[in-house]
Amino acid sequence: MRIAGTGSVLPKKVVTNDMLAGFLDTSDEWIRTRTGVVSRHVISDEKLEDMAIEAAKRALDNAGMTADELDFIICSNVVNEYVTPQLSCIIQGGIGAECPCIDINCACAGFIYAVEIAESFYQAGKVKNVLVVSAEEPTRMTDWSDRRTCVLFGDGAGAAVLTPGDNIRCVKLSASSATDKLWQYRLLHPTPYITKEEVDVPLQMKGQDVFKFAVKAASKDISRTLKETGHSADEVDHYLLHQANIRIINAIQEYLEQPKEKFPVNIEDHGNSSSSCCPILLDECNRSGRFRKGDLIAMSAFGAGFVSGALLFEW
Ligand code: UT7
Repeated sequence: MRIAGTGSVLPKKVVTNDMLAGFLDTSDEWIRTRTGVVSRHVISDEKLEDMAIEAAKRALDNAGMTADELDFIICSNVVNEYVTPQLSCIIQGGIGAECPCIDINCACAGFIYAVEIAESFYQAGKVKNVLVVSAEEPTRMTDWSDRRTCVLFGDGAGAAVLTPGDNIRCVKLSASSATDKLWQYRLLHPTPYITKEEVDVPLQMKGQDVFKFAVKAASKDISRTLKETGHSADEVDHYLLHQANIRIINAIQEYLEQPKEKFPVNIEDHGNSSSSCCPILLDECNRSGRFRKGDLIAMSAFGAGFVSGALLFEW
């Protein structure tokens, strides 16, 4: 397939590090130097499904396509207000499409997992045009009195329309179960029969373990896509990495021995918006005219599970 159009939406409320320091034992200096985040967009009165629908409409518009041309919609999402129906069905109705749709939860790597599913359906001859939307509100998962987690995240939705082509060169996915590193429990409704203890726990994270996994997994995933396609790291024009921590991005950049200019970032004013990071960054690069036809782009993301993935494609 090829990426024919992109779109994204951010919530309007901007929360700066200084605003967080107003109610948390933290500082702009700590957050800025340890993570690279200076401010983030946080959902206030928006509904995530509305942002997802708008991002999808912008991607369709950018691709010069209409919703009735879509054969499949894949939405990557970790949490939203609905348990059911799935977000992709809500997006389908919102844009006026009629095709089948599916939600996936692959944490921050969701966009890359979704592209691999789209490409596999295309290779199998089942679809021509696929809409992938990542819509996330991780700020609703964290405990806002926990300075170790809540300062990291922002919300947003990003989308891409995939159409026939041979621009997607390689996708590599991986998973290695480590369920005590990054997790959250939510409380389900009680029944008269539940006898086990159940708890409601906001997002918990062993930050340094996630950090180490992230650098290792991303470096390995990207290297695997390069090896399989016979490209060198030098031949890649842009590295679009999950925006979790600028120090993680810098470590991957050093591993690949590539100049900083090849690594566009928006973590400074977006924070980590889970699987939305990659398509939002992709959309911002697309709309700012950063990409030229034929540019080689490597994308990589990692998240809870652990799961990770890398995508090598030509613009
Ligand atoms: O999408 C994937 C999701 N997550 C990630 O990718 C996160 C990966 N991990 C990280 O980015 C980093 O591990 C963090 C940014 C989460 C933490 O940075 P760190 O350099 O690993 O810090 P640390 O956890 O070792 O904490 C160092 C100190 C601790 O104090 P003590 O024990 O040394 O006194 C923390 O309590 O920094 C303290 N600390 C803070 N201080 C001020 C932790 N969070 C904050 C904070 N403000 N917000």
